[in-house]
Order: sequence, then C-alpha cells, then structure tokens
Amino acid sequence: MKIFLLLMVFAMTISNCFAQECCEPKESNILILYYSQTGVTKKVAEELQKQLGADIERLEVTKPYDGNFDETIARCIEESKKGELPHLRPFKADLKKYDVIFLGYPVWFGTYAKPVITLVNSFKFAGKQIVPFCTFGSGGLVETTEQLKKALPMAKIQEGYGIREARIAKVEEEVERFLTLSGFIAGEAEIYPDYSEQKPVTKEDVEIFNAACSGYKFPLGTPITVGSRKAGNAIEYLYFVNGKSPNGQDVESKIYIRVEKNKKPEFTLVVR
Ligand SMILES: Cc1cc2nc3c(=O)[nH]c(=O)nc-3n(C[C@H](O)[C@H](O)[C@H](O)COP(=O)(O)O)c2cc1C
Repeated sequence: MKIFLLLMVFAMTISNCFAQECCEPKESNILILYYSQTGVTKKVAEELQKQLGADIERLEVTKPYDGNFDETIARCIEESKKGELPHLRPFKADLKKYDVIFLGYPVWFGTYAKPVITLVNSFKFAGKQIVPFCTFGSGGLVETTEQLKKALPMAKIQEGYGIREARIAKVEEEVERFLTLSGFIAGEAEIYPDYSEQKPVTKEDVEIFNAACSGYKFPLGTPITVGSRKAGNAIEYLYFVNGKSPNGQDVESKIYIRVEKNKKPEFTLVVR
C-alpha cells in the first residue's frame, strides 16, 4: 500500500511539472520595435508579430508627426535646419530581455524616419541582433541597413526586409518567405538563382521597365542594361539605370522589377 501511495505521489509530481512547462507562456527573446507614421510599417510589424509570436511595441514621439505628406516634409526640413530631432515617449519594453530586435521604420529622405534616428542615437543595442524592416515609396532598404551598421557598431545588423507602400498587399507571403529563408520560422522556400549577366536593354526590356515604373510619382531614369532570373512563377529583372537626383546631378541606380504571370510588371525596390 505504502509503495502504491509513493508511486501515486511521484506520478502526480511528474505530470504537474510537464503541465507547467507546456502551459506557462514562454517569454519571447524577440522584440518587434517600430515607428510608423501612417500605418504602412505597422502592417509589416503586425505581420511579423503574427508569424513570429514575438513581443511588439510601436515607438511614439512627444509631438506626433500628424500632418499630411507635404506638411511632414516641411516639418522635417524645418527641424533639420534647426538641428532638431523628435523626442520619444518612454517605451515599455525592457530591451535587456531581448536577443533579437526587429527594428522597423518608414524611409524618410533616404534614411530611417526621424524617430528612429532619435532611437539609435540613444540606444547602442550592444550585443543585440538587429533585423531591419522598412516601407518606402521607392526604396531605402539597402541604404538604411548600411546606415544602421555605422550607427550601431556594437550590434549585429542582419539582412532585413523592405516593401514598397504600393505593394503592401503582398506583405503576408513576402514576410513568410523572408522569415523562412532567414531561419526564424520553419518551412521551405525556393532559393532563386542569381540574375543573369547584365546586357544592353532591348525594346521589350524597355517596355517592361516603363510598364513598371512610368506610373511612379517621380521619374526613375533611363534603363541601360538588364539581367533576369526565374523566381517561382514570376520573372524578376535587375535594371541598371541612369537618372538625375532632385538637385540635378547624374545618378546611377539599380531597379528591381517583378513580373508575375498575366500581371502588370511592378518595381519592388530602387537602390541608389
Ligand atoms: C517625410 C517623408 C519622407 C519620405 N522620404 C522617402 C524617401 O526618401 N524614399 C522613399 O522611397 N519614400 C519616402 N517616403 C515615403 C514613405 O517611406 C512611405 O510612404 C512609407 O511606407 C510610410 O510608412 P508609414 O505609413 O509606416 O509611416 C517619405 C515619406 C515622408 C512622410
């Protein structure tokens, strides 16, 4: 009888331990920390949160950027002239708790939005793995990733994810592919081949370029050469383009274009 009771107590203790382990919410070591003025970057942040199950926090500034596009541009120019940066409201997340921080922002003037400039001026993220993510009208992922590497030399800045505001409807499938390829979630994603060698553009290449780019609010330049690759059901193109900067200087850029079957070509990223 004694032995039977001892065995019962032992079995109950073991099952309690398992129950606790499986049912207590696990603390995430991933934080999604982002700024979003008009809600586009917020959509990416929330998709990341959904797929990663990570903690999430939106950065807020004491004097919100609540004007329209032109008013925000004017305010930013004025602040830059005065050397001013916005002040962040204190945020709840304890950064010490996290090993990985997905840092999100809209691209403003070719760099991360001003609230994120304030953030990286105040926190050095030493020893943290930073995964940048951003949204933009035309581009800025590659440039801002490089800028973050300079601004945060004590952090490990990973390759990030960016999407044009106009393509935000693709966020779910693109985030899944990004998180799978970067090893954050389990699954399989096709690895696309490299682009073919750059060759002078043909009339058809120019037509594809114009179909993708001519509707954009700013001119994106003249395509000179192009390479391509098969990417799942789509063909992707990498154009080398000559254009002018807003102050009239010659600039070269790379423009990535994706053509899905029976769909209008769309540009996915400009790298200047
Ligand atoms: C002040 C300002 C500057 C911007 N500068 C750029 C830029 O340099 N390059 C770009 O591609 N988009 C630029 N944009 C467009 C935003 O990056 C884009 O609309 C973004 O998706 C907005 O994200 P949000 O809704 O999270 O604020 C700018 C927008 C604003 C308001």
